Amino acid sequence: MPNDTGFVPQNQRADVLEAALGGLTATPKTLPAKLFYDDEGCRLFYEITRLPEYYLTRTETALLTSIASSVVPDGFRDAVLVEFGGSDETKARILLDRPDSPFTTYVSIDVAASSLTAMQVRLGDVHPGLTVVPIAADFMQPLRLPPLGSPRMGFFPGSTIGNLDPAAAARFLASARDCLGPDSWFLLGADLRKSPRILLPAYNDAAGVTAAFNLNLLRRLNREAGADFDLNAFRHEAVWNDRESRIEMHLIATRDQTVHLGGRRIAFREAESIHTENSYKHTPDRLIEIARRAGWGMQQVWKDPAGLFGAFLFRGG
Ligand code: AVJ
Repeated sequence: MPNDTGFVPQNQRADVLEAALGGLTATPKTLPAKLFYDDEGCRLFYEITRLPEYYLTRTETALLTSIASSVVPDGFRDAVLVEFGGSDETKARILLDRPDSPFTTYVSIDVAASSLTAMQVRLGDVHPGLTVVPIAADFMQPLRLPPLGSPRMGFFPGSTIGNLDPAAAARFLASARDCLGPDSWFLLGADLRKSPRILLPAYNDAAGVTAAFNLNLLRRLNREAGADFDLNAFRHEAVWNDRESRIEMHLIATRDQTVHLGGRRIAFREAESIHTENSYKHTPDRLIEIARRAGWGMQQVWKDPAGLFGAFLFRGG
């Protein structure tokens, strides 16, 4: 909620070494998925979004384009669009570029401060009349927005919500509702539960880009945290966990080995895994239930013609 002191960034960038050590000394070993996105990781993720097997990005883009005018509630004027994790304005522009767009302010919350600056410059070129408010913060932490007008619509595309387990997703949606304020709206883009015959190739592509994206985590730890991972001694694995309804990404040790990190020795046995990402694939009903628990009422759901991906419009009571 707005306060009278204006916005003070409350959240610092995660400490890579600390985050890595926490996960690698746990049993079973994990690494947080947010560590994927260094410069090389962002480049590889962009390549993933262009892969034939990775249907998510192109399906969501087509879906948002086809519904862009229907998602705008009646009477919406001078509205504020608040994107969570939006250092890349591509999806937001599907809404902002429309001649009948009701949005006059775009707020983007992302940890990547330099990408936010670049985003602000690009948007300033194409939409000189739009007020752009970059906020460098971890949107997973409770956050206070600067004073903004209303009405407001939160925007969380890209199926990023899939990285969160259901409890964390509900916590995120509840804190987004708190920060957007009462009587706000929320547009969520999420990949849907479907056959592993479609899901698995999307996370284990023939060209090996997803494998490179996963292994880049270890390269990053070598560079930024002084680790000595042998990238040839781990391999990428994607599995479908049907009970949890999620794709899991793992890095599997191909032999017994010891890795050094932050003054610690971390022992691996052959075939031991580092669990690097969850990508939950919910049914629409399940997602609506998670949002309901977080105080959001369902307004409308849209799917692409093949039923792969969903766009969910919620309203906060
Ligand atoms: C950016 C979290 C939506 O889960 O599909 C892509 C990340 N991981 N390929 C996803 C990802 C492997 C992506 N999200």
